[in-house]
Amino acid sequence: MACLEICLALLGIALLVYKWSIGTFKTFETRKLPYEKPWPFFGNVAASALQRISTQKQLTEFYLRNRQHKVVGFFNLRKPVVQVNDPELIKKICVKDFDHFPNHNFPLATKERLLNDMINVMKDQRWKRMRNTLSPVFTSAKMRTMFVLMNDSFGECMQHLKKLSGSTTSEAGIEVDMKILFNKLSNDIIATTAFGLKVNSFENPENEFYSVGQSLIFSTPAQFFRFTLSALMPKVFTFFNMTVFDGKKVDYFVNLVLQAMKLREEQGITRPDMIQLMIEAKKEAENNWTDDEIVAQCFVFFFAAFDNNSNLICIAAYELLKNPEIQERLYQEVKETRESLNGGSLTYDVVQKMTYMDMVVSETLRKWTQNPSIDRVCSKPYTLTDEDGNKLFDFRKGDLVTIPVAGLHGDDRYFPDPRKFDPERFSEDQKSGIPPFTYMPFGVGPRSCLAIRYAQMLAKGLLYNLMLNFKIEPSPRTLEDMWEEARSFSLTPRSGLYMQLVPRQ
Ligand code: HEM
Ligand SMILES: *[C@@H]1O[C@H](CO)[C@@H](O)[C@H](O)[C@H]1NC(C)=O
Ligand SMILES: *[C@@H]1O[C@H](CO)[C@@H](O)[C@H](O)[C@H]1NC(C)=O
Ligand SMILES: *[C@@H]1O[C@H](CO)[C@@H](O)[C@H](O)[C@H]1NC(C)=O
Ligand SMILES: *[C@@H]1O[C@H](CO)[C@@H](O)[C@H](O)[C@H]1NC(C)=O
Repeated sequence: MACLEICLALLGIALLVYKWSIGTFKTFETRKLPYEKPWPFFGNVAASALQRISTQKQLTEFYLRNRQHKVVGFFNLRKPVVQVNDPELIKKICVKDFDHFPNHNFPLATKERLLNDMINVMKDQRWKRMRNTLSPVFTSAKMRTMFVLMNDSFGECMQHLKKLSGSTTSEAGIEVDMKILFNKLSNDIIATTAFGLKVNSFENPENEFYSVGQSLIFSTPAQFFRFTLSALMPKVFTFFNMTVFDGKKVDYFVNLVLQAMKLREEQGITRPDMIQLMIEAKKEAENNWTDDEIVAQCFVFFFAAFDNNSNLICIAAYELLKNPEIQERLYQEVKETRESLNGGSLTYDVVQKMTYMDMVVSETLRKWTQNPSIDRVCSKPYTLTDEDGNKLFDFRKGDLVTIPVAGLHGDDRYFPDPRKFDPERFSEDQKSGIPPFTYMPFGVGPRSCLAIRYAQMLAKGLLYNLMLNFKIEPSPRTLEDMWEEARSFSLTPRSGLYMQLVPRQ
């Protein structure tokens, strides 16, 4: 008897859970958008959620199956999202009628320190004021001075590699896990450019900044789990007093920045980093930003910069390894550039002038878009129409929008033979042929990436140094096919990204 009751209760619960898992799946039928049949719990992302393919691949394939629709319904797990496939319509939403879609979707349940003060999380007017405050921080002029700090870290990275390769007698060079190498580099560069702290993670792998920083990085499984839980089950999250970040670790970084600011103001020290630029920006700002609101912007680097930066250089190196002729041509440009310096030092402007370098980095960002999609939230009702004025969809406040960047980058109507790595697409002749709003590695419109120049100078500066000193070749552990082997959110595998670095000369 008891057994039967328990069984019935369990069945009842299972039924409720099932109902919940499909609770939103009628959305697009009622709102008259085409959509693909979703799976319970997983919507249209089952394969990547279950770690069978990468998010990039999942979203690209979904797009390719549905690109004949200008607008299509998409279920990100249980969440219904309106996907806009057509470049003209993307322009409307992200640029022309931006006022209706001014925010990213950041479903944060917690009120913890810093998280809600980061610019990418901020909304509406508050975001606009912060964006105005920060824009002067990322101009070419500021990047020019900041480049000197990056240059030091490049030097330390090369020093480390030379030491390693000097310690073997083998002509064939050294096998390096590029993922670990560039994680360290990315860390050191964030420390020096954002937090005003000089660390060398190659010499001192155990340094505090590195270990505390690693635990905050968003894509680590623990961090990602906590974030996902806060988004999916906010009530549970707040009930158990959970936080996305470990409070002690957050305090470590806050104190780092506050102390540095104090020291600078007291002793009149200047250093071309974010802290300096923030002190200046704060004075100019129309707003009276609190210390926490300022510090939070340094924190953004952990969200927006860490993985993006190290992934970009990892993947560029991988493509150079796979395409020796392209690597050779890049090497020639780098060599000529160095000769033109006449023994002088690499500068921001010289980095920006390397045209083939720019083509290689642009193509890397196309074929391996870091952010497979960008998102917006509708903040006031909006009717989307096509060029003839026909109604396509009625947006309501709160509707989520996604722009399928990886899909567009993989569409053969815009980029013929899309899985081919071909920097020529971005040559002077050809690049004007790329239709507007089909290439968006840094997003688009007023809400696009704040730090494009920073990201590019980092990638290009590092590749310059790497090409000059080493030739990248496959090692026995090099991945055959990263596109097929990547899983879920990370393009580069956790198990390591091994390559052989052969010293030049
Ligand atoms: C390879 C490196 C990077 C890539 C591919 C990248 C890409 C992106 C993309 C796609 C977006 C969303 C844009 C949109 O929704 O339209 C974004 C936003 C943002 N990125 Fe980056 N990013 C990179 C590096 C960085 C770095 C180094 C920073 C340093 C602070 C940064 C700061 C930001 C911020 C603050 C936003 C939000 C802007 C806002 O909401 O107003 N990014 N980035
Ligand atoms: C950049 O780094 C190199 C060593 O990697 C160094 O020789 C050069 O002086 C540095 N340039 C500047 C401007 O600091
Ligand atoms: C959460 O914090 C509140 C007060 O800060 C406390 O009353 C409550 O017992 C805590 N809950 C749990 C599950 O720790
Ligand atoms: C800004 O805040 C400080 C301290 O809270 C206050 O003394 C000052 O008057 C404020 N300035 C403006 C312009 O609101
Ligand atoms: C890259 O930056 C964007 C924008 O801030 C962020 O949403 C995304 O999670 C980052 N990607 C990685 C892999 O860190």
